[in-house]
Parts: sequence; structure tokens; C-alpha cells
Amino acid sequence: MTPRRLGWLVVFVLLTSAGWLAAQQAGSMPQWPGITSRDTWPNGCVDCHKITAAGRDLRLSTTLRRWATQGTDPSIVAVARSVFPRATTLQGRHPDVVNTITTGALPIPMQCISCHKSQGRPIGPVVHLIHLSVKPKIPASASLSERSGGYCTSCHLLNLSTGAMTIKGGSEAR
Ligand code: HEC
Ligand code: HEC
Ligand code: HEC
Repeated sequence: MTPRRLGWLVVFVLLTSAGWLAAQQAGSMPQWPGITSRDTWPNGCVDCHKITAAGRDLRLSTTLRRWATQGTDPSIVAVARSVFPRATTLQGRHPDVVNTITTGALPIPMQCISCHKSQGRPIGPVVHLIHLSVKPKIPASASLSERSGGYCTSCHLLNLSTGAMTIKGGSEAR
């Protein structure tokens, strides 16, 4: 091989390995909605808690009405007992808040957060465990994409100008 050909070979090898390296880095880029990938949950809770394409009614108003009339699912009460402050006793029946959360001044979940805060039952830990615990409390009936679709930024919003992290909110579709 002439020195000139060898030179081109070296350039070729360098270029292809640079491309390969870039592809590797793209592949390992974490997929954070709203930060490194498209945000498919701009309104947080209500973008998942809706009537799904498969016809399941996952609206929080439906769930909370059921909890108020038939009692809260025991598995959820158990999670809540394990994280609400000790002094809190639970009836295992949610108060009827459907009007508050569907017609109140605040979007979901701000209405949940404000009442829970005032009653000394912060809602972050219980919501985290329901969705993200290593032993997910999300029932097996949820589809794989619903189960794996939860990222910090499905519910939280990182403002990329100020660096501040907040909670997303929205209203239920009618
Ligand atoms: C990425 C999708 C997603 C987002 C965003 C999300 N959830 Fe969920 N959540 C689920 C799924 C899926 C379930 C399990 C539903 C089922 O199969 O019954 C669930 C379950 C729950 C449950 C247990 C009761 C139930 O419906 O089974 C509560 C309470 C809940 N979510 C509250 C919230 C709140 C409050 C927010 C916003 C702060 C939120 N979720 C955001 C997907 C989501
Ligand atoms: C008006 C006040 C109020 C509002 C609004 C409210 N909650 Fe609650 N929540 C409570 C009280 C009181 C309890 C304790 C119920 C009990 O004794 O079991 C509770 C308990 C819970 C529990 C633990 C399970 C249970 O029923 O004990 C979860 C989970 C929960 N709330 C989620 C939510 C979500 C999600 C929203 C908004 C969509 C919401 N709450 C809105 C007052 C409120
Ligand atoms: C399903 C929705 C949801 C997901 C997913 C979620 N959060 Fe939260 N987070 C909340 C809610 C609701 C609060 C309560 C906010 C409040 O009380 O003002 C909260 C509160 C917090 C807080 C304040 C402390 C607390 O517990 O109240 C921190 C820190 C936090 N989240 C970090 C995270 C991180 C890190 C992840 C990803 C591993 C994550 N969250 C995923 C809904 C979520």
C-alpha cells in the first residue's frame, strides 16, 4: 500500500469510528421527557389518568368517586399507611372530593396537594410509591407501556431556563 492510500485508509477508519462513537453516545442518552426527549405528558397526571384507547377509565375523578363510595383499594391504603405521618389514622375511605377536583380553582394535582398539605398528609411519597416503587403497586392490568411510561418528568416539570422543578397540572377532559 502506498503512503497516500494508507493515509486515506486512516482517514476512513477515523471517520467511521467517530460515527460509531456518536451513535453509541446517542444510544446511551437517557430519555427524559421534556429534557432529552419529546414530552408526551405536558399536563402530568391527567395525560395518563383519562379514558384510554382500550376503553379503560383511569380518570382520577372516577377512581376517587369509587374510593369515596366503596372504600379505597386496600393495597393503596396499605401504601398510604406506610408513608403518611404516624399520627394520621386512615378510615380506608377517601372523602368525596370529585367536585373539588373537577370544578375547583386549581388544576389536578394542585387541588390534591393543597388539601393533603393542610391535613398533614403530604401526597408526594404515596404517589411516588404507587407509580415508581421497585415493587410497583400499579395493578398487573395496566399495559406495559403504561407501567414503563413513568418518568420523574411525567409529573414534574424542569424549567430549562431557571432550573426550577415544579409539578405539572391540568384538567380532566370532559
Ligand atoms: C405516565 C402515566 C401516569 C402519570 C403521569 C400519572 N399516573 Fe397515576 N397511575 C398510572 C397508571 C398506569 C396507574 C394504574 C392504573 C390501573 O391500572 O388501575 C396509576 C395509578 C394511580 C393511582 C392508584 C389508583 C388507580 O387509579 O389505580 C393513583 C391515586 C394515581 N395514579 C395518582 C396519580 C397522580 C396524582 C398523578 C399526578 C401527580 C399521576 N397519577 C400521574 C399512570 C400514571
Ligand atoms: C378535601 C381534601 C382532599 C382532597 C382534595 C384530596 N384528598 Fe386524598 N385524602 C384526604 C383524606 C382526608 C385522606 C384520608 C382518607 C382515609 O382516612 O382513608 C386522603 C387519603 C388519600 C390517599 C390514601 C388512600 C386513602 O384513601 O386513605 C390517597 C392515595 C389520596 N388521598 C390521593 C388523592 C389524590 C390523587 C387526590 C386528587 C386527585 C386527592 N387525594 C385529593 C383528603 C383529600
Ligand atoms: C406520578 C407522578 C410523579 C412522579 C412519576 C414523580 N413524582 Fe415527585 N412528586 C409528585 C407529587 C404529586 C409530589 C408532591 C408535590 C407537593 O407536595 O408539592 C412530588 C414531590 C416530590 C419531591 C418533594 C418531596 C416530596 O416527596 O413531596 C421530590 C424531591 C420529588 N417529587 C422527586 C421526584 C423524583 C426524583 C422522581 C423520579 C424518580 C419523581 N419525583 C417522580 C409526583 C410525582
